[in-house]
Amino acid sequence: MDTGSRWGRLPSGEWVHRYRLSNEAGVEVYLSDYGATILSIMAPDRDGAPGEVTLGHSSLGGYLGSRAYFGCVVGRYANRIRDGMFTLDGVACRVTRNHGRHHLHGGLRGFDKVLWSLKEAGPSGASFSYLSRDGEEGYPGNLEARVTYTLNDRSKLRVVYEAKTDKATVVNLTNHTYFNLAGGGDVLSHMLSLDADSYTPADADLLPTGEVAPVEGTPLDFRTPKRVGRDMVSAHPQMRAAGGYDHNYVLNGSGLRRVARLAEPLSGRALEVHTTQPGLQLYTGNFLDGSDLGRDGSPYPRHSGLCLETQHYPDSPNHPEYPSTALRPGEAYKQETVFRFTVE
Ligand code: GLA
Repeated sequence: MDTGSRWGRLPSGEWVHRYRLSNEAGVEVYLSDYGATILSIMAPDRDGAPGEVTLGHSSLGGYLGSRAYFGCVVGRYANRIRDGMFTLDGVACRVTRNHGRHHLHGGLRGFDKVLWSLKEAGPSGASFSYLSRDGEEGYPGNLEARVTYTLNDRSKLRVVYEAKTDKATVVNLTNHTYFNLAGGGDVLSHMLSLDADSYTPADADLLPTGEVAPVEGTPLDFRTPKRVGRDMVSAHPQMRAAGGYDHNYVLNGSGLRRVARLAEPLSGRALEVHTTQPGLQLYTGNFLDGSDLGRDGSPYPRHSGLCLETQHYPDSPNHPEYPSTALRPGEAYKQETVFRFTVE
């Protein structure tokens, strides 16, 4: 087993490692056991020249101090839980309120801020596991989570999320990579399409109101390819609340299917997203304010990357009408997302 190279040290003294995947098409992916994070993805442009397509920090220290969630796995519950409270099988659960009165992305020390254990690694894949103890950030049940990344020669980076529990709990895992296929600048001129006819409107705290609304006639409509920035500045009430896109789309179809495509006209780089998940959070880096520094030390301003977070809908534990995020003993949680890098 390739144990990777030592990349940095946690305040606890534990070593954090870095692993490299690569393929014959010239795609290179760097991963870390800290947060089971994608540290970097290099993908060729239409002339074959490799370039960085994700946002990232230069060293472990940047990841330890940041709340931007660059490249990491988010859990136990990605996105928001209203008031940090829900009831599951008649049991009232209280999870950390780390986002005003609400819960966000697993709490203060979510799955992005813990050291995962390497289970397997090689040039085309790596698998990490993490045991989230009963009561961690308020969640019930010992949850054994596993995330496996594999890269194939067709430039598909496959991410498989698995979990099991010994008590009823909720789980919603995603990856929070910020993409920028130009390798710099902002993402407003990227072309995006999303296979979603509807979305879950959010309130001023970005929690779902419970409605499912059609995208038709709104700035949220990406059913045909559109410049990310085209409708971003809009008087539409949904756009005022978020300062850009920070919305959960209700993806069409089910099973592993293509749900998104992002393309950058100048470099010719494109990214297709396939997933088994029912939702996708389009987040256009609205909270990036220059305080997170990039690999070369320069600040990342607003909209310098965008996330395509495949997920269950936000606040599902409080919405019985949404696809369920409950996981009970004896059940297996499994979701899969594929990021495919191409050129046009
Ligand atoms: C998600 C959320 C955003 C924000 C980012 C992290 O995308 O939906 O509101 O919290 O994560 O900054």
